[in-house]
Amino acid sequence: MRLLMAGSPGSGKGTHSRRLSDCLGIPHISTGDLLREQVSLGTELGLNAKTFMDRGDYVPDDVMVNMIKGRLSEPDAEKGFIIDGFPRTVTQADALDKMLADLGQSIDAVIVLDVPVEEMVRRLSGRRTCPTCQRSYHMDDEPPADDERCNDDGTPLERRSDDEPETVRHRLKVYADRTAGVIEHYDTDSVVKRINGEATIDEVHRRIDEALGMA
Ligand code: AP5
Ligand code: MG
Repeated sequence: MRLLMAGSPGSGKGTHSRRLSDCLGIPHISTGDLLREQVSLGTELGLNAKTFMDRGDYVPDDVMVNMIKGRLSEPDAEKGFIIDGFPRTVTQADALDKMLADLGQSIDAVIVLDVPVEEMVRRLSGRRTCPTCQRSYHMDDEPPADDERCNDDGTPLERRSDDEPETVRHRLKVYADRTAGVIEHYDTDSVVKRINGEATIDEVHRRIDEALGMA
């Protein structure tokens, strides 16, 4: 299965992509996670990207398109994937169409998580992330078993540098201005599955399974 996971910052893309990846045995490809990995490695790409990410702005399209192109050419992506956070602009969507056409592939579903703005702000203000595996927790809704450490690898959890309230508000605005319209790019293909994402994580997961015909 080839899926795109879309939705505003804090809508639950990472949380649900991770669960689907475990269920379906296909890789979770998050452009945000790939960028943060470059930042932590201190590469030139990472250092350049960080200036955009810390402001809550988008990293330039050519960087993102090359990143996804490289990742989709890895062997584990041949049998399917869940792309989380790409495409975010019409230029990226056009580039993905071309990449998939060249590979003889197509997207099976675009999952769009709809969550009210106040709820996304609440979720991001309580989020903690594992810098090793990038798993997200929420200190009220989905706390780690051991206080402030990742359940999977024991790494101390951190607050993402772009989760400061002012940056969150800017990220939400950038999404509304630049990405909300990208969904229309896929509307004509009837692959868009809009999911009401305002419910418990288990319930949203069930809704996604149902929309994909997996329930
Ligand atoms: P990215 O890392 O993708 O950030 P984002 O899109 O802003 O989304 P988030 O990761 O913040 O939220 P999420 O939807 O994954 O929510 P999560 O599951 O964690 O991108 C970061 C930056 O990289 C961008 O700002 C940009 O600079 C750059 N970038 C990335 N891709 C790019 C691209 N294609 N083009 C250009 N630039 C790009 O959940 C959030 C919290 O809520 C967690 O605490 C979770 O536990 C909790 N939660 C989740 N679901 C529920 C629920 N149902 N009920 C209660 N709590 C829940
Ligand atoms: Mg995420």
